[in-house]
Amino acid sequence: MTPSIVIDTTPARDPGPQLDRLISSTVMRGSSLGSIMGAVGTVSNLIFSGARGPPLRSPLEMEGFTPSQVEFLTDVALTRKRSQRKFTRASELYFTSEGLRWATPEVAADHCASRLARELVIDVTCGQGGQVMSLSATSKRVIAVDIDPTNCLVTMMNCMARNISNVTIVNGDCFDNAVLEMVEAGCAVFCDPARPPNSEKRELSEIVPDPRRVQHSYGGLASGFCYEMPPYISMDKIDFPCEAEYVSIEGRLNRLNLYTGDLYACERSAVALPGGHVLEGRPDPAASKVTHKEISGTYAYEIDPTVIRADLVQTLVDSVGPGAHVLTLDERRALLFSDHHLESPFLIQGFRVISAHVSEEELLSALGRIGAGSVTIRYSVDPRDYWDVRRSFEEKLKGRRKVQLFKDGGFLVLEKLH
Ligand SMILES: C[S@@+](CC[C@H](N)C(=O)[O-])C[C@H]1O[C@@H](n2cnc3c(N)ncnc32)[C@H](O)[C@@H]1O
Repeated sequence: MTPSIVIDTTPARDPGPQLDRLISSTVMRGSSLGSIMGAVGTVSNLIFSGARGPPLRSPLEMEGFTPSQVEFLTDVALTRKRSQRKFTRASELYFTSEGLRWATPEVAADHCASRLARELVIDVTCGQGGQVMSLSATSKRVIAVDIDPTNCLVTMMNCMARNISNVTIVNGDCFDNAVLEMVEAGCAVFCDPARPPNSEKRELSEIVPDPRRVQHSYGGLASGFCYEMPPYISMDKIDFPCEAEYVSIEGRLNRLNLYTGDLYACERSAVALPGGHVLEGRPDPAASKVTHKEISGTYAYEIDPTVIRADLVQTLVDSVGPGAHVLTLDERRALLFSDHHLESPFLIQGFRVISAHVSEEELLSALGRIGAGSVTIRYSVDPRDYWDVRRSFEEKLKGRRKVQLFKDGGFLVLEKLH
């Protein structure tokens, strides 16, 4: 087995031979770290000034980079623009297109890092360093491990770009003895495992490394663990005790973090980012739900998907005061009805309730009466049919009022609150 490569970002320690070993395990073999970062900078400047295609590659070819090195360098430079969706100051960071796809977005990484803060955190699957950058800001030291040398090299470049000097990068299998020997009592372990990109099954067994093996191998000394999981994995498939924290960004479900050991705070939690609001409780799938016929209330609110996934709808209902009830639209969406205007970080869009109808005929005459003209379809339709469905209503209407149409056993006409 190849021994792990260990590189310290502490300026006092010269990474020389270890860094050369790391680079020589990647497509960039034969280059120095400075020349790799410089070449990405050159191509980024060309992209910024509007260059595309062959002109991006020619300066790299002239510098003697091989075709596969040119491909790597241009990919990293071209990915910078898209990194803005996940990172602030993205123009100084390094990700391959594949690495960015799996990188934890900064706002989610910051939230997680604040929970993990301590003397030492080990990120056992660091990828290209998305989470590492946040961990390095909240913990005194970070060990960043990845089995893929290219990912370790890119993590190194990101640490340099952000002047981070408290990270030790280890290229190796997180179950290697050399890595396990670095574990210290009381440290936390973060693990964002690799998973098949288009998995339908969402099983623990298809996730690498398996969290249960991480727990077993690091559990002797580490005192807290956080596993990042696909957010739609069923909790029935998680066969170890943990806190399930569902995280949304701008009202969209983004990730599921499972916390064990001293990081466990409660059975379920929902976190709404970027605000950082937290709802904690015990799962209660039988929340005060109503059917279409029982809907009442002046206002309706879309519930943040984290609350639905975490089975914390009842906790939310209790937190907003008496009289609220919930209509489940599908597995991922629900509306909360109330006679009062409500404010909660877990209510993502508010509506005024206009009317509820069972038949399409009844719906159309009501839409005519209220002067509706624009009908946004809010129930599930095949995207290819969306405009046909929408037009089938709008062509029969003459008004100007904008309404939102939901459907669950019957139609529900709502109007957005601004
Ligand atoms: C989803 S990515 C991590 C992304 C990372 N959180 C970020 O923000 O950039 C999963 C990583 O796990 C690494 N990995 C898989 N099995 C591993 C193992 N046994 N030891 C170390 N790393 C492993 C893969 O190489 C991959 O980079």
